[in-house]
Amino acid sequence: TFVVTENCIRCKYTDCVEVCPVDCFYEGPNFLVIDPDECIDCALCEPECPAEAIYSEDELPDDQKQFIELNAELAVIWPNITERKDPPADAEEWDGKPGKLEQLER
Ligand code: SF4
Ligand code: F3S
Repeated sequence: TFVVTENCIRCKYTDCVEVCPVDCFYEGPNFLVIDPDECIDCALCEPECPAEAIYSEDELPDDQKQFIELNAELAVIWPNITERKDPPADAEEWDGKPGKLEQLER
């Protein structure tokens, strides 16, 4: 499965959702997640993310492993998203900032 990681928080560009053949992205206030039960591992979304926030589970950096659980947990709570929308106005300022997990809104 593929996993959305920390750098999506407050960037939320949503380019990823347009290419997913099984529409398995779910949207929170400032972050998106992938439903691991629905993802078919096609890898199409990974290169679409301007923030490089999407990884294959097998290639996750060690400090992002907690996002496996977080994607699974939030995908069953949050609504589905299938169409791109404008990112937050300050998305670029947040791209690459460390410690964004604290900023996650549920
Ligand atoms: Fe969707 Fe494919 Fe990305 Fe999985 S890997 S979330 S199926 S685009
Ligand atoms: Fe997030 Fe990247 Fe998609 S920033 S919303 S994973 S395009």
